[in-house]
Amino acid sequence: MTNKISLRQETKDDFKKVFELNQIAFGQENEAKLVDALRKNQTAFVPELSIVATDNNKIVGHILFTKINIKDDTGNLKESLGLAPMAVRPELQKSGIGGQLIKKGFEVAKELGFKSVIVLGHEHYYPRFGFQSADKWKIKAPFEVPSNVFMAIELVTDGLRDISGTVVYPKEFETV
Ligand SMILES: CC(C)(COP(=O)(O)OP(=O)(O)OC[C@H]1O[C@@H](n2cnc3c(N)ncnc32)[C@H](O)[C@@H]1OP(=O)(O)O)[C@@H](O)C(=O)NCCC(=O)NCCS
Repeated sequence: MTNKISLRQETKDDFKKVFELNQIAFGQENEAKLVDALRKNQTAFVPELSIVATDNNKIVGHILFTKINIKDDTGNLKESLGLAPMAVRPELQKSGIGGQLIKKGFEVAKELGFKSVIVLGHEHYYPRFGFQSADKWKIKAPFEVPSNVFMAIELVTDGLRDISGTVVYPKEFETV
C-alpha cells in the first residue's frame, strides 16, 4: 500500500493525463472519450466529483460521478449520481487507491447534497463500499444487465426511500 496518495478535484491541467490514465487502465479509448464528453455536459457534470488520486503529483487514479435521473412509472424524475468510469494505473491497482477514490467521492457528494449513487460494476468489488443490488429499491438499468452488477447505495439514511424506476443516463453514455 502506497501512502503518498493525495486526492483532489481535477483541474483543467489534468484533462490530458486523465485521458491517458483511462486509456491505459481500460486498454481502449472509449472510457477516456466518455470522460471528455461528460465534462462538456453542463447538466450532468459536477466538477467537484471528477476526482484524481496523485502520487508525487503524478495522476495515478481518477473517478467520475455524474448526475443521472431515476424515472418512475409516471415519468417523475429523481436525481441521483452515476459512478463511472473509475480507473487506477495498472501497476498500482489492488493497493487501495480505487477504494480511497470511492470514499472521497461519497464524502464530496454528501457535502453537495446528493443522497445516492448508482453503479454498474463488479458484484464483488462495489459491495465492499456498501453498494447493494438496485433491485432492493426496484431501480432498473435502461438496458439488459444481470441484477447483481447493477447496484445502488444510500449516502444518507433513506436516501432512496420511495425512489424506484429506470435510470436515465446522460446521452454521452450511449456511445460507449
Ligand atoms: C477497478 C479499479 C478502478 C479498482 O481500483 P484498485 O485501486 O485496484 O481497487 P482497490 O485497491 O480499492 O481494490 C482492489 C480489489 O478489488 C478487486 N477488484 C477490482 N476491480 C475488480 C473487478 N473488475 N473484478 C473483480 N475484482 C475487482 C481486486 O481484485 C482487489 O481485490 P483484493 O483486495 O481482494 O485483492 C482498477 O482495478 C481499474 O482501473 N481497473 C480497470 C478499469 C475498470 O475496470 N474500471 C471499473 C469499471 S468503471
